[in-house]
Amino acid sequence: MSFRARHLLGIEHLAQDEIRAVLDLAERYVDLNRRTVKSSDVLAGMTQINMFFENSTRTQASFELAGKRLGADVMNMSVAQSSVKKGETLIDTALTLNAMHPDLLVVRHPNSGAVNLLASKVNCAVLNAGDGKHEHPTQALLDALTIRRAKGRIQRLTIAICGDIAHSRVARSNLILLGKMENRIRLIGPPTLMPSGVAEFGCEVYDDMREGLKGADVVMMLRLQKERMDGGFIPSEREYYHRYGLDADKLAVASPEAIVMHPGPMNRGVEIDGEIADDINRSVIQDQVEMGVAVRMACMELLARNLRAERGAKAVGSMV
Ligand code: NCD
Repeated sequence: MSFRARHLLGIEHLAQDEIRAVLDLAERYVDLNRRTVKSSDVLAGMTQINMFFENSTRTQASFELAGKRLGADVMNMSVAQSSVKKGETLIDTALTLNAMHPDLLVVRHPNSGAVNLLASKVNCAVLNAGDGKHEHPTQALLDALTIRRAKGRIQRLTIAICGDIAHSRVARSNLILLGKMENRIRLIGPPTLMPSGVAEFGCEVYDDMREGLKGADVVMMLRLQKERMDGGFIPSEREYYHRYGLDADKLAVASPEAIVMHPGPMNRGVEIDGEIADDINRSVIQDQVEMGVAVRMACMELLARNLRAERGAKAVGSMV
């Protein structure tokens, strides 16, 4: 079998064939999700718990829908009303939930590395729904599926990732995935929002949008992650929009068939012009949301298969 991972913690740990396995299976779920009856029993009898320690609209909603469409019992732990507010640590919360025998644990946390730590303490499959500035693997996978469907391939493309690269787990996971798939990656943004050591990922770095966007096949915009900034990284939002906001003028230098992406939530008039975001001939932002559900269904099915195989093997082992 081509998908061997026990958890989905980051793109870093996935091989090219595992990435393709997710995308190929997700294609089947895109079809299912477009039917009136969307149910399947792939996760029937299994329990999925979603733990979101950070705000989320798209990611949480799509993980919930994905689990429900696959027939799992899905529980959303409400962090605001949980014992986390009484001082319980992440690990204690996880161990408590683990004792209730979930099969899949979906976790978003503001600290980089928190989800990896948690995965080492529980005996179910853990999916990282975003940890600090570290990784957001399902976002990179849904972006890859969106690109593959729009461009017909996921290699040998020129892909520009623009904006607040330094604070973005979306940029990091995409950089790793698109690099593994042998694309030409350009990072565009102000030097203050460019992480140190990006050169080691083998990408080109620009601080001028018109330079960096020249001939690009894919233009991926990112939100200014103000919640992760402690100080002034930009002179003002107006100035930022002027220099780095995607508008028709700047987009004109990209390939005439270039697609525009954004993981959401979007700040119109800060990193992107509202008209570009809504332009159905250029923007695939709504497709990204649609692909999100299908990709998460695929990831959960593949992890559940591995979990069943592992538990089956253990059960056989204990009988002899
Ligand atoms: C992103 C995230 O949370 O990392 N959003 C998402 O999952 N769609 C990007 C962001 O918050 O800007």
